[in-house]
Amino acid sequence: MDWLKDACFYEIYPQSFKDSNGDGIGDFNGIIEKLDYIKELGCNGIWMNPCFDSPFKDAGYDVRNYKLVAERYGTNDDLKRLFEEAHKRGIKILLDLVPGHTSDEHEWFKDSKKAEPGEFKDRYIWTDFWYGEARNLRGIAGMADRNGIYVVNFFASQPALNYGFLNKTEKWQSSVDSPEAIATADAMCDVMKFWLSMGADGFRVDMADSLVKFDDDDKSATCKVWKRIIAEVKKEYPEARLVSEWNRPRQSLPAGFDMDFMLNWTGNGYDLLLRDTGSEKPSPIFKKDSKRDINDFLNDYLPQYEDTRESGRYCLITGNHDTDRVSYYLDEDERKIAFAFLLTMPGAPFIYYGDEIGMRYMKELPSKEGGYTRTGSRTPMQWDDSEGAGFSTANKDSFYLPIDADLKGKNAKEQMAKEGSLYNTVKEVIALRKSNEALLDNGNLDFVLRQPGRREFAFKRGDLLIVVNPSEKACKVDSSDVKISSLPEKKYSIGDVKTDKGVIEMGPVSFGVFVIS
Ligand code: GLC
Ligand code: CA
Repeated sequence: MDWLKDACFYEIYPQSFKDSNGDGIGDFNGIIEKLDYIKELGCNGIWMNPCFDSPFKDAGYDVRNYKLVAERYGTNDDLKRLFEEAHKRGIKILLDLVPGHTSDEHEWFKDSKKAEPGEFKDRYIWTDFWYGEARNLRGIAGMADRNGIYVVNFFASQPALNYGFLNKTEKWQSSVDSPEAIATADAMCDVMKFWLSMGADGFRVDMADSLVKFDDDDKSATCKVWKRIIAEVKKEYPEARLVSEWNRPRQSLPAGFDMDFMLNWTGNGYDLLLRDTGSEKPSPIFKKDSKRDINDFLNDYLPQYEDTRESGRYCLITGNHDTDRVSYYLDEDERKIAFAFLLTMPGAPFIYYGDEIGMRYMKELPSKEGGYTRTGSRTPMQWDDSEGAGFSTANKDSFYLPIDADLKGKNAKEQMAKEGSLYNTVKEVIALRKSNEALLDNGNLDFVLRQPGRREFAFKRGDLLIVVNPSEKACKVDSSDVKISSLPEKKYSIGDVKTDKGVIEMGPVSFGVFVIS
């Protein structure tokens, strides 16, 4: 069986998870100490943000050495031990691969910027002029002795690796099948195999759609590069699994990725589901007094899901290190049913560390390591309500980022002990998912109730019917609404959910799972 079938992932931001040596920064040994916590929650997969040697101008997404872990997290041997300890507990680990760019301190880049052409002169995209514009690409001038401008992939400190251009029109461009473009892809294969041989189970791939620059709107050239890389890697490591940061499953899955994420893009279906970041007064679907209905999400999600369910998984996340934490938009009751919804949908769900215990988005925090507004979602995990929140024994001033001053009710210890807490709800729904074949992976999905203007909605997965009422008002759903002949039996619920005289009565902000006979 493919290990993704019953996968439920937990995303760890390594600098903020658990510090084992009292220097105020999370590390591998700290993660090892907390593997049992992840297992107890029910997760059997981890996505860990970049942990490689880096000057940390983008929190590690600026890799200086792909084959060496950052000293602050431990050694390569410690990471190997983390893989082993995770595997002992039935947990797989995806590392974060950054294939589109490196740090400007990477040895390849240092070589490529020299005036005298060296071995890596074509590893990055350089123009042959030193002043002007590199067509519609962002370029940086004046930083090297070499006569040219380098193209950036994200920040100025992240020069774009050269995978070639689909239609080479300028002398300074490489074509996609040039030896130098192939050499870049081969180098990335080599990096992947290096970590897979150490025990990694796969990768989350950063900006996976960014390899081939312009003239590749349909991404066919980028997909071709991935097909080659993934085939090459899977030849040796058939069990390796890859998830792309792409949010276009129609492109990414046929290119060979096993999963793609639905990302929070302002105004898209996922954004309107949980956040609504583009509005002055956010009113996402899961907000009790919202006027939106589930179609704002489904119109975006469903066509993409349906077109790709045979080729892989389109995954839903509670959040990630780039998005505002949901707690900024939804209260705890709203989050309980929102997370229950995410956890009963197809794909493999991803929980962002701390979302399960209600950690807050610390909006006002100054930028750390290129985080900008993302910094507020990256604060230390709140294990308990002690001085350092159980994150670290260091002096609080030396913590990677400050701990939320208000830990009450928002720490793992308290959340775990409290019946009906957000943590316990998440844990119960993960257990429900795992024990019902119909909820796993890409089992059948049929939205039987999604009437425009109606807040409550319902969907079937195999022999289960799931009814969700995100509204502050109670509502009734009868068997004809959900296209069943007899009243189903209640299996699990959050909030006030009853069945009476052929009708399902859903209290305000409620969620119910029923068995259809
Ligand atoms: C991705 C990462 C983000 C990073 C960027 C550049 O979007 O998730 O954190 O800053 O790529 O690598
Ligand atoms: Ca540490």
